[in-house]
Amino acid sequence: MLADTLESAQRHAIGSAPQVKKLKANELPQVFEREFHAHPKVFRAPGRVNLIGEHTDYNDGFVLPSAIGFYAHVAIAPRSGGKLFLKSTAYEGQFEFDVSRLPEKKQDAWSDYVLGVAHQLKRAGVALSGANLLLHSEVPVGSGLSSSAALEVASALALQSLSGKTLPLKQIAKLCQSAENEFVGAHVGIMDQFVSCFGKEGHAVLIDCRSLDFKLVPIPSDVDFVICNTMVKHELSGGEYNERRAQCEEGVRTLSKFYPGIKALRDVSVEQLTEHESDLPAIVYRRCKHVVQENARTLEAVKCFASGDLARVGQLMRASHESLRDLYEVSCAELDIMVEAAQGLPGFIGGRMTGGGFGGCTINLVGHSNSQAFAKEVAARYKARTGISPDVFVCSAANGAGLEAEHAAV
Ligand code: GLA
Repeated sequence: MLADTLESAQRHAIGSAPQVKKLKANELPQVFEREFHAHPKVFRAPGRVNLIGEHTDYNDGFVLPSAIGFYAHVAIAPRSGGKLFLKSTAYEGQFEFDVSRLPEKKQDAWSDYVLGVAHQLKRAGVALSGANLLLHSEVPVGSGLSSSAALEVASALALQSLSGKTLPLKQIAKLCQSAENEFVGAHVGIMDQFVSCFGKEGHAVLIDCRSLDFKLVPIPSDVDFVICNTMVKHELSGGEYNERRAQCEEGVRTLSKFYPGIKALRDVSVEQLTEHESDLPAIVYRRCKHVVQENARTLEAVKCFASGDLARVGQLMRASHESLRDLYEVSCAELDIMVEAAQGLPGFIGGRMTGGGFGGCTINLVGHSNSQAFAKEVAARYKARTGISPDVFVCSAANGAGLEAEHAAV
């Protein structure tokens, strides 16, 4: 979501609809060396898919995302003269900024994500110096897989690497979120930046978005993620997202009059909400009901992964989708069709829309031996119903952000 800037820059850069170009090992350093005549360090940070726990992060709740093997890569080397020079293989345009006088306002370009992060790093006491940065991203843009969080986190690691200071990874996640909230102007929660930092191969990450404690949840090795892109992106998503946040806050304001301990929807039980249904506008009640129940579903899903009850995980994913569709109203016809298209296919465990909504992707858990056939069939069914050819990715949970050399298998 909120990736219009990235998407338009990407489309212009490659002259067509966004493609996913996976980077071969050594490709980016070589391009960097040709361009800047210096050997760079390369940092990378992944996009994510959320298995369950949607629109709960900004309510201090629980989420269960995984990092996926599509990364933003940032190559960096020092540059004399105190300027930051930004260029990308993925997005059009190149930018130059004076590190001591960074623009205070966004410029509606992909560089905003890097600039926002640079401001936050400075605020955290990281001394920035002149640098050349070359960015490459494999994360499909505008599809709800967090291309912006990946870019922020990879940029943060790259910029701080030249400073001699290493901030704790949790602080990196938080400052990347602040960059997006304050500089880019998107009031997103912490989920995307956090899992981009802490993702782990073969695992989902249960994040307590209040304490920022997290727990790795193993995904059975014979289960694949099949991510299906509806290819639909709603222009209104930024406004709709902020409106949902405001409705949740309104619910909290009213409920806290009856229960002073309530600071966020995280603190509200189903019983308390039911008791005060008539004190809330109907639409606010529906939004709150989704969040309260979604938190419970997320915690139950974690227990079911642990006990191997994948059938129940599937039911919870289905219930999550229906709640996002009917109560939170962030689905759309294409997402609903994509979710329906998966039903009954061999190996299918469960599926739902993933991310902010209003378009973007569904996530499906599918038995490994069936996942390729599933991908083909779901794409055919979706195309037959909508006329749109979807991008479908079969993948699994991947590692979070770090220095490229630490991850040989790019
Ligand atoms: C977007 C935001 C996240 C989260 C999801 C909905 O992806 O960036 O913080 O709120 O929407 O769960």
